[in-house]
Amino acid sequence: MDLYEYQARDVFEKHGVPVLAGAVAETPAEARAAAEAIGAKSGGVTVVKAQVKTGGRGKAGGVKVAKSPEEAEELAGQILGMDIKGHTVHRVMIAQGASIAEEYYFSLLLDRANRSYLAMCSKEGGMEIEQLAVERPEALARIDVDPNTGIDATKAQEIVDAAGFDAETAGKIVPVLQRLWDVYAGEDATLVEVNPLVKTEGGDIVALDGKVTLDGNADFRHPDHAAFEDTASTDPLETAAKEKGLNYVKLDGNVGIIGNGAGLVMSTLDVVAYAGEAVGSKPANFLDIGGGASAEVMANGLHIILGDPQVKAVFVNVFGGITACDAVADGIVGALEAIGDEATKPLVVRLDGNNVDEGRRILREFAHPLVIIEETMDGAAAKAAELAAK
Ligand SMILES: Nc1ncnc2c1ncn2[C@@H]1O[C@H](COP(=O)(O)OP(=O)(O)OP(=O)(O)O)[C@@H](O)[C@H]1O
Ligand SMILES: [Mg+2]
Repeated sequence: MDLYEYQARDVFEKHGVPVLAGAVAETPAEARAAAEAIGAKSGGVTVVKAQVKTGGRGKAGGVKVAKSPEEAEELAGQILGMDIKGHTVHRVMIAQGASIAEEYYFSLLLDRANRSYLAMCSKEGGMEIEQLAVERPEALARIDVDPNTGIDATKAQEIVDAAGFDAETAGKIVPVLQRLWDVYAGEDATLVEVNPLVKTEGGDIVALDGKVTLDGNADFRHPDHAAFEDTASTDPLETAAKEKGLNYVKLDGNVGIIGNGAGLVMSTLDVVAYAGEAVGSKPANFLDIGGGASAEVMANGLHIILGDPQVKAVFVNVFGGITACDAVADGIVGALEAIGDEATKPLVVRLDGNNVDEGRRILREFAHPLVIIEETMDGAAAKAAELAAK
């Protein structure tokens, strides 16, 4: 799960990373009130910052300096409701204004290819870090971080030396990097990025922006992370699927997909995308119902998929393994009986594997007018793509 900047700020504060005061606002009036309180610490100056889970807010006009609470209110009015790369701004953060002397970059992430963690640091932070990484990679230090030892004082020193900081600045950044390691390890993050990490005119090191991605697999260790979830802006179908414990991801095509096993479902997306090219059809979702494929799970899955108005046809692709095809067929029959009239779209079913003949026999005998049995995965994909395009 990606955090909003204001949430990352709070997490930083909790772990002792130096941050500036900040408060979230959903209306211009709230922004003004927040700016009155927060601006008092910085000569009335605050920064109004769009809270969206995408980069490049500054360039898109989503980060603006306000010299007074009135101006903060006015700027919040402009920024709230803005669209930044497809994300609507529902909240702004009012941040204390900093007088910036220098902007740096720091990030720590999971480097899957290297099976370790990677720290990146540069004296040249700010808004163009991607460009810097491409044009002058030597200006961006990359240091491996051993997960067992993390960023201790020695490792932090190695990072700031590689980035080329002068001794005085380096000395101030070292403890901040150790606090950022605390965030990373303590919260089970897979990414902690600070851009910019600044040195103020007064010589203090402060994290002015924060991006944090939390590892959902570790949620069980962090009951407090549930509060970060933003149900308002996640897709309602995904929220409903999550409540049912289904592995569902909404995509933007017209062929609903249900399968058992993540690998099978991913290859189903590929064959549907391929078969759909000619007729203009695409997968509408990823849905893995797991090994069991009971009537209840199948019904829950169909219910979610049929609730997507973009879906015009459904492809049920099941390979019977430990759960034999006859049990899966019973699941499909039970699901269709359970959802009744709600089933309004054609259902192309491909069953294969353990006890396939009995599975197909059950479906043929059921003779549901919307169910089409196909023997091969490619044949079923073509059929579903064709039906969805009609
Ligand atoms: N509290 C603040 N006080 C003064 N200047 C700020 C403050 N916050 C941000 N800025 C300035 O605005 C610039 C952009 O801010 P920020 O990094 O938060 O957004 P961004 O980089 O555009 O967004 P993203 O990181 O999502 O791409 C910073 O590099 C900094 O110069
Ligand atoms: Mg930034």
